[in-house]
Amino acid sequence: MKERFNRRICVAPMMGYTTPYARKLYRILSKETFLFTEMIASKSLINSKNKDLIIENDNHNPVALQVGGSDLYDLKQCSKIAYSYNYNEINLNVGCPSKAVQKGTFGACLMKDKVLVRECVESMQSDKIVTSIKCRIGLGKELNYDFFEEFIDEVLKSGIKIIYVHARNAILNGISPSQNRSVPPLDYNFVKKIKLKYPDVLFILNGGIDSLDKAKNLLNDYEGVMLGRLIQNNPFILKKIDNIFYNSTNTIKVNEELIFNYFNYIKPKIEKDSIFRLLSPLLQIFFGIPNSKLFKSKIHQFMKNRELKLIEDLLLKFIRENSLQLN
Ligand SMILES: Cc1cc2nc3c(=O)[nH]c(=O)nc-3n(C[C@H](O)[C@H](O)[C@H](O)COP(=O)(O)O)c2cc1C
Repeated sequence: MKERFNRRICVAPMMGYTTPYARKLYRILSKETFLFTEMIASKSLINSKNKDLIIENDNHNPVALQVGGSDLYDLKQCSKIAYSYNYNEINLNVGCPSKAVQKGTFGACLMKDKVLVRECVESMQSDKIVTSIKCRIGLGKELNYDFFEEFIDEVLKSGIKIIYVHARNAILNGISPSQNRSVPPLDYNFVKKIKLKYPDVLFILNGGIDSLDKAKNLLNDYEGVMLGRLIQNNPFILKKIDNIFYNSTNTIKVNEELIFNYFNYIKPKIEKDSIFRLLSPLLQIFFGIPNSKLFKSKIHQFMKNRELKLIEDLLLKFIRENSLQLN
């Protein structure tokens, strides 16, 4: 399988954020960035009657579908579904620390059972779609490189060639998922060290990369980086990615066309999904723009009555008035 894209810059899977609507916006802003869905539990993916709504891939490629699960048969099914929706990759979540996820025996707690993780990815693999995992560097409060290395040794016996590493431990008890993204310290050296052992495997670094400058510097030492909260807070920063990281000379503008394009995508879905999910990615347009309070409060008012046309008009007005700051 020869790929015509790379994973130098990836947007991290984020539940509640990297929805099909967000990916539509991301793709308008960057043609090259590698995207992810939010994590979808394998059983929900298989049994959902709304599959189209959850995992629609409207040419958002290159894009990976992330699943959570540990049932080998279910994961195999998920892999087939990902292929049928034209995903480039299926990724197993081995990093989420939430209690609900632990109860379903998936996410970070799987790092305790490296053989099971290997079996999971073996079950997901096929010659049709690339398989990968996203994991932490360990579990609990203590950092332990040997534990990480042994985990990776076992998983790589499956033959997979791509691992995304959120370079901090997961603490499974006593702290929340959001604290688990800041309390355990980052240690990028784990990723540097494992890469020396496995030069043919692509290790993508994730965790705490909070500016494009930082991403750029890290790319001197790592093959790819994955950005989470930076994009969650300000997806519009993606419009710089193709120029900075992919030598593109195209200028992406935040303009009326962008709004039309986005609304054309969400309009047919207004009866099928919540207006908040449909609009929230685009509403980050106000990030860092002074005096946008009035626009925001009007939009929230219109959202209550699901007045999509009025919201679109207001956003067009906002864009005309703030074109300089937005571009
Ligand atoms: C709101 C939110 C939801 C997340 N959901 C997922 C998820 O579904 N799957 C996953 O592997 N990681 C999830 N993460 C973790 C991110 O993918 C990423 O590993 C983490 O935020 C660290 O990267 P950052 O410091 O660049 O934000 C989530 C993070 C956030 C902020």
